[in-house]
Amino acid sequence: MTQYVAAIDQGTTSTRCMIFDHSGHVVAVDQLEHQQIFPRAGWVEHDAAEIWGNTRQVCGGALARADINADQVAAVGITNQRETTVIWDKATGEPIHNAIVWQDTRTQAICDELGALGGGAERYRTKTGLPLATYFAGPKARWILDNVEGARERAERGELAFGTMDTWVLWNATGGNEGGLHVTDPTNASRTLLMNIDTLEWDPQLCEEIGVPMAMLPEIRSSSETYGPIRARGTFADVPVSGILGDQQAATFGQACLSVGEAKNTYGTGNFVLLNTGTEKVESKNGLLTTVCYKIGDAPQVYALEGSIAVTGSLVQWLRDNLGMISSAPEVETLAKSVDDNGGAYIVPAFSGLFAPYWRSDARGVIVGLTRYVNKGHIARAVLEATAFQTREVIDAMNADSGVPLTALKVDGGMVGNEVLMQFQADLLGVDVIRPVVSETTALGAAYAAGLAVGFWDSEQDIRDNWAQDKVWSPSMDEKLRDETYAEWKKAVTRTFDWA
Ligand code: G3P
Repeated sequence: MTQYVAAIDQGTTSTRCMIFDHSGHVVAVDQLEHQQIFPRAGWVEHDAAEIWGNTRQVCGGALARADINADQVAAVGITNQRETTVIWDKATGEPIHNAIVWQDTRTQAICDELGALGGGAERYRTKTGLPLATYFAGPKARWILDNVEGARERAERGELAFGTMDTWVLWNATGGNEGGLHVTDPTNASRTLLMNIDTLEWDPQLCEEIGVPMAMLPEIRSSSETYGPIRARGTFADVPVSGILGDQQAATFGQACLSVGEAKNTYGTGNFVLLNTGTEKVESKNGLLTTVCYKIGDAPQVYALEGSIAVTGSLVQWLRDNLGMISSAPEVETLAKSVDDNGGAYIVPAFSGLFAPYWRSDARGVIVGLTRYVNKGHIARAVLEATAFQTREVIDAMNADSGVPLTALKVDGGMVGNEVLMQFQADLLGVDVIRPVVSETTALGAAYAAGLAVGFWDSEQDIRDNWAQDKVWSPSMDEKLRDETYAEWKKAVTRTFDWA
C-alpha cells in the first residue's frame, strides 16, 4: 500500500491539512479559515477552541480527499503561526483566554518595563537572539496571567499549561486532558524570549524576570522525532506525530535551504526572510533576529538570521475587507496592472508597529505622496510594492550582517502567483527571484521533518532532490529609477515613527 505523510499547518488566517507523497508532491489539501478577533486597536486574538475544531475537520477532510486510510499515513508533522500564545486549564482542556496573536501590540507596557531594567530593547538579545518586542510569546503569557483572575496562582500550582499553537494542537491531538503531550520544539521555543538559544533550554532567570512560571512550560524536544501517537477521534488515529517546526522555519526546510548562505522569503500574512547560518548562530547588528532554524533528532541545531515583516499579504486583505476596494485578493493584481507605476503614492503598513529592521512599536501606518492624480490602480500598486520594499530592507540588513550579498532569492507562499509583485521584487533586489514547483513549502517542510523521523525519507538529500524550480523573475528595471523609488520609500517609512 502506498504510504504518505501529512502536515497540519496552523496559520494566522487558516488551518490546513496537506498530504504529500514520497516525491514531495501535494496529494490532497483541506483548509478552514478562523475568526480574526480585534477587541480594540492594536489587539488581535484567536479562539483556540475554534482552531482545534478546525484542525480536526481539515485532517478528516484531507484524508477523505486523498481517498486513503489513516494507516497509509506514515507520520504527521505540525507547523504553525509562531509566537501566538494560548494558556489552558490542563484538567478541562479549556483555554482561559483567547489566544493572543503574534501581531498583537498589547504587551508594549510590559516590554517597556522590562527594558527599563537595563539594556532597553537589547536586554535579552545575547541570551535569546531577539529584541524585546511585543511580537514574542513570553510577555503575551505574562499579560494573560496578569489579567485573568487567579491565573498566576493556578499556573504556579501547575494547573495551567502554556503553549504556542504547535503545542496546543499536539496536546489536543495526542489526548488532550486525557494524557495529551505537552511538548514544543526549539524553533517555536526560540520565539518566546524564555529559551536560551545556545542550550535550547528554558532559562529560569528569563522566566522569573518576564513573569512566566516554569511549571506551565512545555518540554522542548527536537523538531524531528516521534513524540507520540494521535489519540483524537476523527483524525489520523494512532499515526505518530514526529515533526514540529514553526511555519517560517518549516518553509526554509521545505525550500531545501539546508546549507549555510541559502535563504527563502515566504509571502504570507507577513513576510519572513530566513537565511541558514549553519550550526553557528550569528548575532544581528542590523535589526534581524537570530532564531533556531531546525534541530533534526540528535544532530546539532541549525540557526538562521530572520527578517520578520508583520504586514504584507494582510495589507491586501485590509484593502479588501476594510476599504472594500477589491472583492477578492487576486483582484489587486488586475487593479495594479491598470497603471504603469505607483503614481508617487507609498503605503507603509505599520499596523503592528514596524518589525525588522526597525522594531518600532510606536510606528503606525501611513499613505504618503497623495495628489489628485492618484487613483485606485496606484493604491493597489503601492499595496503590492510595500511588500517588495519591506523585503528589500530586510535583505539589505541580511547582506550587511552576513557580509555576503545574496545572489538569488527563493520565494514561496500565497502571493508568489502575483506576477506584478514578483517582477517588482526582482527589480528592486537586483537578483533573480525563484519560485519552486511546490510552493506549499511550509506544510512540506513539516512533512519532511515528520517523515525523516520515521524513515519515510532517508536523509536531507531526499529533500534537495525533490526541490525543483518552476519560474524565475530576473531584474530589468533601470538602476537609477530603482534607487530613486527606494529612497522615496525610505522617506515614507520615517513618516510612521512616533505615532502610537
Ligand atoms: O511569526 C509569525 C509567523 O509565523 C506567521 O506566519 O504564515 O501565518 O503569516 P503566517
